Amino acid sequence: MRSSSTLELDEIKKIYAGYSNIYDFLFKRFFYPRQKHVISSLAIHPGEKILDVGVGTGLSLPVYPRFAQVVGIDISSKMLQEAAKKIQKYRLSHVSLFEMDASRLAFADDSFDYVIAAHVVTVVPDPVAVLAEIKRVTKREGRIIIINHFQSTNPVLAKVEEWITPLCKRMGWRSDLSLEDLVTRADLQVDHVFRLSKLDPWKVIFAANNK
Ligand SMILES: C[S@@+](CC[C@H](N)C(=O)[O-])C[C@H]1O[C@@H](n2cnc3c(N)ncnc32)[C@H](O)[C@@H]1O
Repeated sequence: MRSSSTLELDEIKKIYAGYSNIYDFLFKRFFYPRQKHVISSLAIHPGEKILDVGVGTGLSLPVYPRFAQVVGIDISSKMLQEAAKKIQKYRLSHVSLFEMDASRLAFADDSFDYVIAAHVVTVVPDPVAVLAEIKRVTKREGRIIIINHFQSTNPVLAKVEEWITPLCKRMGWRSDLSLEDLVTRADLQVDHVFRLSKLDPWKVIFAANNK
């Protein structure tokens, strides 16, 4: 599902290396409340395994329960360095980090009970390939959770989001990814879609693993 809207891996690494030490200052106030709400709502049981895809600076990491086993992966070593600082700061011995491409996950099939991708599917070059990998490593009865902004279903706003895509690309994401299109192409079995508030630009998607 590559298009002219997508970024290439080298560009992504360069852009997010640039963001790494200002990312929390710029984005925490927008992203963290939703991550906290969603992760806190999960019925995670002791010993369950969770994969946080594109974990970035690890904003979400302090929210996961300490009785779970949490793995965070990211393509950017600089973003991971910031996540490693949070592991130290909050003594998160239940969390491990790996530098890894989300479209080629180095985990066995059916490894995780929950896989979460927050603000990632509009950053990766091929979101369908990433979702195929997410489905592969998630257990059959596991849950897939996506948090992201998607292209508006309002035709005027959608057009504006197409126009601003070149600008957004320079900032490290695309603004024209349609949720409906992604769900169809990735063959996702969506159970529930919601926003934290009526005008929230970000959506939360809960999916079953229909592989
Ligand atoms: C907008 S940030 C989101 C970070 C974090 N999930 C959050 O919500 O704050 C996007 C992250 O995706 C990572 N990323 C982009 N492409 C990736 C890929 N192919 N594999 C793994 N991580 C990737 C970037 O390095 C960056 O850390």
